[in-house]
Amino acid sequence: MYTPEMIKRFTHPKFMKVIKNPDGYARVGSEICGDEMEYYIKVKDGKINKIGFKTFGCAASIATSDMLAELSIGKTLDEAKKIAEEGVIKKLKGLPQVKFHCANLATKALRAAIDNFESKK
Ligand code: FES
Repeated sequence: MYTPEMIKRFTHPKFMKVIKNPDGYARVGSEICGDEMEYYIKVKDGKINKIGFKTFGCAASIATSDMLAELSIGKTLDEAKKIAEEGVIKKLKGLPQVKFHCANLATKALRAAIDNFESKK
């Protein structure tokens, strides 16, 4: 049901942490399941140089958030915003269809954190 990549991310997430004094922050909830995610970003020279997340949700929400964080680090804000849920799912080598909305929630939350940073400029 879950791929080894997904299980590894869920059991050993690298980016599940709060970043103090983030440049951008957002907390977003899913309309489908009610789970919530937070992203914290630090931005340097127009690129994400630190990222952390917290999720109040399922195993897939942890795995997708963590993978999205890894894909985003070092990217420009525009590049990070363009990372789609399909790309996250592909990197996890698949996800049950019923869990696709978890990846969608992660991408929405990261975009909201970037929007939060950009709104302060
Ligand atoms: S079940 Fe809703 S985020 Fe995973």
